[in-house]
Amino acid sequence: MFRSEIRKMLLEAAEKIIPEGEAVPGFSVEVPESLEHGDYASNIALALAKVLKKPPMEVAGLLVEQLTTYDQQLTTKIEIATPGFINFSIKDKFLFRELENVLKVPDEWGKSDEGNGKTVVVEYFQLNIAKRPHVGHLRSAVIGDAIKRMLLSQGYNAVSDTHVGDWGTQFGILLLAYKEVYGGKPMGELGDPFDVFEKLYIEENERIEKDPSRRERAKEEFAKMERGDPENREIWEWMVDVSMKKLEESAVRLNLLPFDEHRGESAYEEVMPKIVELALEKSIAKKTTDGAIVVDLIAEKLDEAVLIKSDGASTYLLRDLATIQYRKGKYDFFRNLYVVDIRQSHHFKQVFRVAELLGFGGVGESEHVEFGFMTSPEGAFSTRKGTAISLDAVLDEAHGKAFAVIKEKNPNLGNAEKVAGVVGLGALKYFDLSHHRKSDVVFRWEDALSFEGNTGPYIQYTHARLKSILRKVDGSLGPDFEVAGKPEPDELEHELLVSLLRLPEVIEDALKDFTPNTLANYLFLFAQRVNEFYHSHPVLKEPDQIKLSFRKDLVRASAITIKNALGLLGIDAPEEM
Ligand code: ARG
Repeated sequence: MFRSEIRKMLLEAAEKIIPEGEAVPGFSVEVPESLEHGDYASNIALALAKVLKKPPMEVAGLLVEQLTTYDQQLTTKIEIATPGFINFSIKDKFLFRELENVLKVPDEWGKSDEGNGKTVVVEYFQLNIAKRPHVGHLRSAVIGDAIKRMLLSQGYNAVSDTHVGDWGTQFGILLLAYKEVYGGKPMGELGDPFDVFEKLYIEENERIEKDPSRRERAKEEFAKMERGDPENREIWEWMVDVSMKKLEESAVRLNLLPFDEHRGESAYEEVMPKIVELALEKSIAKKTTDGAIVVDLIAEKLDEAVLIKSDGASTYLLRDLATIQYRKGKYDFFRNLYVVDIRQSHHFKQVFRVAELLGFGGVGESEHVEFGFMTSPEGAFSTRKGTAISLDAVLDEAHGKAFAVIKEKNPNLGNAEKVAGVVGLGALKYFDLSHHRKSDVVFRWEDALSFEGNTGPYIQYTHARLKSILRKVDGSLGPDFEVAGKPEPDELEHELLVSLLRLPEVIEDALKDFTPNTLANYLFLFAQRVNEFYHSHPVLKEPDQIKLSFRKDLVRASAITIKNALGLLGIDAPEEM
């Protein structure tokens, strides 16, 4: 990576001019906004000026003097710009060498072994049993899947878990209602199970409202199940069964990577008492006057973390503590990530802090990769008549709408049905991933499905255009530019190549704070450059063999770059669309 090479040589140069015993201050190496400032620019002289108590321009001069030997190796040009930036342009010779690597092993392009030996647990797409997957589950699935793909590409051992919500007093409500309404009738014969669950929930909640004593009865049903009551257990197991089938089916529809674990919250029942014991023993937790067991985090402004409620029931928080302990023991993770919406941020702060107190590893290793909300202008994405829109309905709509757009743009496309699936899903995912995960997004089909602007279809279409050019460049791939002779790239070709070769740096940046939008936004800028390039630089009609050969390689490498980068976002790139 050019950026890290530049960083390294700047650091070495700085160490030569800084007084003995002083540390080189933090500095950046970035891609400047304007081309005039080269391919990369650093503010190191500005940072050093304070330490050396010399004007930044002078410090930049001193640094550049130290860089002259490197200059011959890597860059054509090192320039100083006011108020003290150092700008670098990479020699084309080095760009060519990297380009060849991209073309030689296209599938490897973008990958690294940076994360070798490190395990990262990523938890996302946490469905709850006996509830239909709905549109609110989309963001976690899409963001989590992109993070897992990026981690794997950098050599991390990425382990995914859905932490299925299969435990808690809400099942008491379902058990009570089921027995009341359908008592004895085999559940498989009731029709769509999710319709049944929905109906049972709604009706039981109405009954509870009229007769609050039913809440106690619901609690008792759950408690009975906890004690192992065979009838309740059997009903619950059936709910788990149909829900897990639905989860798998949804994951396939969303084209998510396979999960390594679907460890339900119920799996932690047994170890929870031991954790409570440990917490009491170490005086981390205390019993309150009403019998609850809590960890007092008030001094840290995190309130009280409740492990056991006053009625003796275990909490969601306690199950999360058990989960960390389990994951640490099984995977000895380097990081443990939770892709969960922003509303649970306080919960996770408590979890990580208590986990740390208990010695399970917590703050610093575990991270809440939080995200904001996706709504539609009509509000239709959140709720309609109290029920959330199902995930299936949204995916159907994506497919239908994409099909219409494709039919209009390219009526003769052969496999339009299949392409529409890829484009519709891609549009949905890309819309999500192109926004910073923490921001709330307003989803509009017209925006997401547009073939122009920062959208999935625009990027996919750019890729398809490149593929079409390549199909037309006479069957054989022709000699590569090494054989054909050395090209002299013009400014735009140089810029495109530098931008293309930045992919690994962008993935590194996207993994720093787990922000897939870093990669999406790079893709958008890159696709724009690609469009500018092929509109202004004929490939097919270029008479000069050397130029033709070089441009063909640029087109091929650009297509590879888009395909691989989209792949890291969990989006396919059709050959034609
Ligand atoms: N099932 C939970 C809910 O519906 C989300 C789970 C989040 N993950 C966790 N480890 N607590 O709110």
